[in-house]
Amino acid sequence: MAKKIAVLGTGYVGLVTSVGLADFGNTVVGVDLRQDIVDTLNGGTPTIYELGLEDYLQRNLATGRLTFTSAGGAAIREADIVFLAVGTPPAADGHADLSQVEAAARSIGENLTAYKVVVTKSTVPVGTNRRVQQIIAETSGATPGEGFSVASNPEFLREGKAVQDFFHPDRIVLGVEDDNARRYLEDIYRALNLIQTPFVWCNLETAELIKYASNAFLATKITFINQMANLAEAAGADIHTIARSMGMDGRISPKFLHPGPGYGGSCFPKDTKAVVATGDALGVDMSLIREVVHANNEQKRITATKLVRLMGGGVAGKTVAVLGLAFKAETDDVRESPAIEIVQELLRQGAQVRAFDPEGIENFRTAVLGEGPFGGGLDPQLRGEIADAAAQRLLYCQDEFAALEGADGMIIVTEWNAFRNLDLERAAQLMTGRVIFDARNVLDPAQAQRHGFTYAGVGRVAPG
Ligand code: UDX
Repeated sequence: MAKKIAVLGTGYVGLVTSVGLADFGNTVVGVDLRQDIVDTLNGGTPTIYELGLEDYLQRNLATGRLTFTSAGGAAIREADIVFLAVGTPPAADGHADLSQVEAAARSIGENLTAYKVVVTKSTVPVGTNRRVQQIIAETSGATPGEGFSVASNPEFLREGKAVQDFFHPDRIVLGVEDDNARRYLEDIYRALNLIQTPFVWCNLETAELIKYASNAFLATKITFINQMANLAEAAGADIHTIARSMGMDGRISPKFLHPGPGYGGSCFPKDTKAVVATGDALGVDMSLIREVVHANNEQKRITATKLVRLMGGGVAGKTVAVLGLAFKAETDDVRESPAIEIVQELLRQGAQVRAFDPEGIENFRTAVLGEGPFGGGLDPQLRGEIADAAAQRLLYCQDEFAALEGADGMIIVTEWNAFRNLDLERAAQLMTGRVIFDARNVLDPAQAQRHGFTYAGVGRVAPG
C-alpha cells in the first residue's frame, strides 16, 4: 500500500525529495514553518531554481498526492514515514549545526501517535541518527525498533541536476536496523527497482559516513588536480593532457579532474570541514582532508593573486571584468564561490570591478553586503570595508559584453556555456586592455591569442 510521507523542510533537499517521492506514487506532505513558502509551493511555483522541478511540482500537485503545509504536528501524526530534510549549516567551529534536526526530532517525539519510520535525508555527522533516536525515545517514551524506527538515507543530488539525480541515482544508501523500517523504505522506493538502482543496506553510522566519504573524496580529487595543474603550469606541461591520460586508467576515471579556481557550493566545503571535526571529536587523524580544506582555500587565493600578477602586478585604478559569480554553472548559488574571494581581493586592491553572471547576481550582491542567506561567505571583519568599496567600485552588468566594456582585463570564474563561446572579436573591441585569465580553461588559448589577447588558463601551456 502506498505510504503517507511527511517531509520536514522544503529547502533544496526537502523540496526535490517531496516532489520525487510523490512522483513515485506516494502521498507526500512537505512541511515548512514559513507560511509564505508553503503558499508559493502550493501555488505550483518552486522556491528554488532546479531544471525540471516546476513541471514535476505542478504535475504532482495536480494529482493531489503532493501538498505543503506549515502545520508540522498534524503532518507528522498522519504520516507513516517522516523524512528529516531540515538545514544543517556549518557552525563557526566547523561542526554542523544540528539545532534544526534536534528540534524536528523533538516534534516527531511529541507527535508519535503510531509507529513511524523516521528517515534522515539531511547530511549529518556520524552519530546524529543515534541522537535523533534518543531524542524521539525520550520525548515520546516509545522504544526504538518498536514504537518507531530511525533510518539514514543520505542524498547525493547535484545542484542543477537534482531532479535528474533523484530519478536516476547511482545508488540508494539506506542505514536501517530493523526489518520493519526496511520494508517501509523498499515500498517507497519501489519505482527505482524498474531501473535497477543498486540499494546499499547498512547500519546508521555506515550510511552517515558514506556521504561524507564520497564528498570528501571528490573534493580531494579536485584539489589534487588543482595542485597538479599549478605544478604543470610551473613545469611547462599541459594539465588537460595529463588529466585525460590519468583518466584512461580505469582505476582513476576521468571525472572530477577538471582544474579550476577551487571548489565551492553548499556541500564540499561544509562536508570536508565536518569530516575533520568528526575526526577531531573521535580522536582520529584526518590530516589528508584537513589539507584539502586548506589547499582549496589556497587555490582561491592563488587564483586572485595570479589575476593581479597578469594585470601587471597591481590593479589599483584598473578595471577588471569578472565573468561568473556562481560556484559552478547552471546555478544561482554563490555559497563559497571562488568569485567571492576574487572580487574581494580586487576591491581590496583598489580595482573597479564589472561583474556579470547569468543567474547569480542577486545572491552575490547580498553576499557582498553581508546580508541574506549567503552573507556568511565573506570575512566578517572585512565586510564593512568591502561593502563600502563594493558600493563605489563594484558594478553588476546586464551581460558579459556590458561587463567587458572599458575593461583592462577579464577573468572567467564560472564555466557558463555563454562564456565558452565568448565572441572574442567583440570582446577585443569593447575592452581597453588585452588580458584574459580563463580560470576554468573554457576558451581556446590559440584563438584568444589570435585576437591579440594575452591568455592564461590553469595548468595550460601558453600558445605560440
Ligand atoms: C556535490 C556532489 O556532487 C553531490 O553528490 C552532493 O550531494 C553535493 O555536492 P554540487 O555541490 O551541486 O554537488 O556540485 P558539483 O558539480 O559536484 O561541483 C562541486 C564544486 O566542484 C564546484 O565548485 C565545481 O566547479 C567544482 N569542480 C567539480 C571542479 O572544480 N572540478 C571538477 O572536475 C568538478
